[in-house]
Amino acid sequence: MTNEIVQALIWKDNALSVLDQRQLPSVTYYDDYSDAQGVAEAITSMRVRGAPAIGIAAAYGVVLSLQQHYEKTSEWRDVVAKDIQMLAQSRPTAVNLFWALDKMKSVIAQESANLRTAAADCAITIHHEDKAANRTMGEFGADIIANAKGILTHCNTGSLATGGYGTALGVIRSVYARHSVNIYADETRPWLQGARLTVWELSQDGIPSTLIADSAAAWLMKSGAIDWVVVGADRIASNGDAANKIGTYSLAVLAKQHGVKMMVVAPTSTIDWSLENGNTIEIECRDPLELLPKSYDTPDSLVSAWNPVFDVTPAELIDAIVTERGVVLNPSQHTNGIASLRA
Ligand code: MRU
Repeated sequence: MTNEIVQALIWKDNALSVLDQRQLPSVTYYDDYSDAQGVAEAITSMRVRGAPAIGIAAAYGVVLSLQQHYEKTSEWRDVVAKDIQMLAQSRPTAVNLFWALDKMKSVIAQESANLRTAAADCAITIHHEDKAANRTMGEFGADIIANAKGILTHCNTGSLATGGYGTALGVIRSVYARHSVNIYADETRPWLQGARLTVWELSQDGIPSTLIADSAAAWLMKSGAIDWVVVGADRIASNGDAANKIGTYSLAVLAKQHGVKMMVVAPTSTIDWSLENGNTIEIECRDPLELLPKSYDTPDSLVSAWNPVFDVTPAELIDAIVTERGVVLNPSQHTNGIASLRA
């Protein structure tokens, strides 16, 4: 088993420390938060990012809101509900955010005598269970990948993006713990989660990797160097369509062309059972300035930018969906999609 040193979120002394991922890899800096507003801003600005990590952060945000407002005035319920709404609006695509907030809302609805403690226990459990799920998925995924000589991953799906260990990167860690494998990471433009986060995170844990430009993926596949593309997800529909970082869909199309297998790794908190397919998943479009060179940002500029940050990979391009509850191979070939993963 490999070690993991990096921690995106630390809950200590009733406060939340968030590793500012915008500053990596050059600066390792934690911001401390004591209210929900700060946590919502940390999610929107991508100090913390990655589907499971933003769900966990939001859960702690609700705990902070209760610490601030519970029984301080007769309107505390309304104030906390507004904080929850603000957290829900911090990013639209990853369903883990809404899943975690729903869990926190049910704790509040129970109105236990020790509500602040009950809420903190719930958030800590969400955090710990996510990490445990990642360990389980790591082993499930590694069993399938068994003899791979090369794996390509996209975005960052490791300890930085989760409660710890990672989803797709967790599987890659587990494969690496079993046998030597060449790990390739896409840069993941425009935000560079691969270049700034994934290869950094792996190197912190003593795991070697090779960075490629996103546009080199087809040529890498053509060279025969990789057997699997392994990615995470932000929202998976009941039929197995999977929203993930922009560029994932391109990789799936390329993988099909080159006989490379495509694996999506995500905890069941990433599955949106209300969606029949991925057509209605809201795709976040971020500030064009995350993409546009500054010199084009002038009032008379003729250049604009379109910056969708997720895309949806259809189930028929996915060979395996790995969750902590089990694996679905070839999801598009099952009449009930991924229903076997439902509790
Ligand atoms: O915009 P980001 O960095 O939050 O996007 C993250 C991804 O797309 C990840 O692949 C996904 O959240 C899974 S993380 C385990």
